[in-house]
Amino acid sequence: ADEIPDLLSPEFAADPYSAYRLLREHAPLLWHEATGSYVVSRYEDVRRAFKDDLFSTENYSWQLEPVHGRTILQLDGRAHAVRRALVAPAFRGKELEERFLPVIERNSRELIDAFRHEGRVDLVSQYATRFPINVIVDMLGLDKADHDRFHRWYTAIIAFLGNLSQDPRVAEAGMRTRDELAAYLVPIIRQRREAPGDDLLSRLCLAEVDGVRMTDEEVKAFCSLLLAAGGETTDKAVASLFANLLDHPDQLAAVREDRSLIPRAFAESLRFTPPVHMIMRQPVEDVEIGGGTVPAGSTVTCLIGAANRDPEHFGSPDTFDLFRPELDGTTSFSAAARHLAFALGRHFCVGALLAEAEVRVGVNDLLDAMPDMRPAPGARRVERGLFTRGLEALPVEFTPVAG
Ligand code: HEM
Repeated sequence: ADEIPDLLSPEFAADPYSAYRLLREHAPLLWHEATGSYVVSRYEDVRRAFKDDLFSTENYSWQLEPVHGRTILQLDGRAHAVRRALVAPAFRGKELEERFLPVIERNSRELIDAFRHEGRVDLVSQYATRFPINVIVDMLGLDKADHDRFHRWYTAIIAFLGNLSQDPRVAEAGMRTRDELAAYLVPIIRQRREAPGDDLLSRLCLAEVDGVRMTDEEVKAFCSLLLAAGGETTDKAVASLFANLLDHPDQLAAVREDRSLIPRAFAESLRFTPPVHMIMRQPVEDVEIGGGTVPAGSTVTCLIGAANRDPEHFGSPDTFDLFRPELDGTTSFSAAARHLAFALGRHFCVGALLAEAEVRVGVNDLLDAMPDMRPAPGARRVERGLFTRGLEALPVEFTPVAG
């Protein structure tokens, strides 16, 4: 175990996947002093921590609550189930495909129109980081003119959540954002309760399950969570998917030719380069996991990035291959593909189908606008992040098409 790079070391940051392999093979249950947590890396153990009720999400009360307030991620049991039932219908089925798909399409095209004639674009800063946030703002029925303001809030929130070095300026900006977002949203939430529309915010205000409605504070916290949970993840997923395809020109050509392969490519990209690498849980009693015992109330760090490349579950796990047999039968629902990028069990990503719809629209539109998309010469790929991980930039070049 001494040879395994520390989770917080530059060596780990440069190549977590090599460290993940060593962890799976030599230290499937590792006590990590600096994060004060037990680290699990094997597929079976990570899956178990997500599915088993013995593992609570109480740890989010100190990780997420300061910036978002109390959200469904912190809740377990009935309190969670009721609130999940309040929000879930907006993110699937008819509601998603009929009401929100046009919002997704409009936002994707607006962003692409801004660069389609330029012949060059950074897919991260000019598309991926903007697209999911703009979609959420419009789904909530907020003012489009506030897209930039939400982008700033979003950037401050994810910096706060990833602030490992505890930079006081980042912490302060996060707290300021919490207050600004509340000052912006709470009056709008009150208006929507009185005069609801058919937007997502009105639905969140009015939804009722077993006599429970969300309070103003809960609706605000959920919107704040949406920015981080729905923004940063989709942002990183879109960029990584394109990077993986650009690295494998034959697979890029296959997807370009047959767009029904997009969900499959998305699922494989989520397995190979998941946006969320680590998630924490807190056992409610002593549990056996990873070949050892973890005491009640301690923190367990679940390495999704390691589990997704466990050779016990995926053949040639370090190869990006959208044609891998594990994905056979995956046609529309990327989550069915066994990878753990959306977690599993009661907190399984409630926005998975929304993410898939965004990726389907985004990939189609970007491929149409850039028929000969290629990496910009000389651009270096830099991937960053510990809990979440993604590309700093992805500059590409293309010959503009008319239209
Ligand atoms: C939960 C990943 C997109 C909203 C989660 C969890 C993961 C995840 C791993 C579980 C967290 C845990 O158990 O601790 C992703 C990835 C996405 C994505 C990889 C994109 C590729 C979205 C989108 C939305 C969203 C687009 C909504 C706009 C949520 C919410 C939860 C959640 C509200 C909490 C669910 C609960 O506690 O029951 N997501 N997510 N996510 N996600 Fe996503």
